[in-house]
Amino acid sequence: MKTEVSPSILSADFGKLNEEVASVEPFCDRLHIDVMDGHFVPNISFGAPVYKWVKTRLPLDVHLMIEHPWQFFEDFIKAGANTLTIHEEVFRDGGYEGGLSKALRVIADRGVLPGVSVKPGTPVEKIKDVLDLVDYILIMTVEPGFGGQDFMPEMVEKIRKLRDFGFEKNISVDGGINSETGKICVDAGANVLVAGSYIFKAEDRKEAIESLKLTR
Ligand code: DX5
Ligand code: ZN
Repeated sequence: MKTEVSPSILSADFGKLNEEVASVEPFCDRLHIDVMDGHFVPNISFGAPVYKWVKTRLPLDVHLMIEHPWQFFEDFIKAGANTLTIHEEVFRDGGYEGGLSKALRVIADRGVLPGVSVKPGTPVEKIKDVLDLVDYILIMTVEPGFGGQDFMPEMVEKIRKLRDFGFEKNISVDGGINSETGKICVDAGANVLVAGSYIFKAEDRKEAIESLKLTR
């Protein structure tokens, strides 16, 4: 499987967002959009009204770190999401009838690729029942909420387990990814590397992106 690179715009300069996107677009495969609500994670970023203005030919991977994502599916889809990734943890209080699997089906029925993500404290066994329903699994390799944190090596085992379970579609990793930690994840079976600060804080963004592609 080819290693794909998905820059997280959370580390970009929002004052010139489309220039920032244009600076990485020619070299990468997807664009990672972090939506945060200040409840599910201790930070607020932006929502559909902002990212709908992102001009790119790249598919948008929208990572929803919000408590009731189902309330906004339609807005996120209209704003141009190619993939909608929701967290397993937000379904535990039973607030959405049909739970995680229903929500993933609703996303797929709208013609958008469904993804599921797990925080560091969530074992992958929790998503075993929905493996057939998702195109993407996003393994958080930091506590979600902020860019620039250190990679948690204990998360690598989750990637191996998912491949052992027979999951053959996309496994992304998100948090603290650079060429070194990215390689560890790719060796374990990940094929999409999300990276924010490693790319946007790099002197040479092209070189940073190419170094992630070389991990295979
Ligand atoms: C963290 C976000 C990440 C973040 C990654 O909650 O989900 O996508 O932007 O940033 P880096 O690559 O700097 O750890
Ligand atoms: Zn993310």
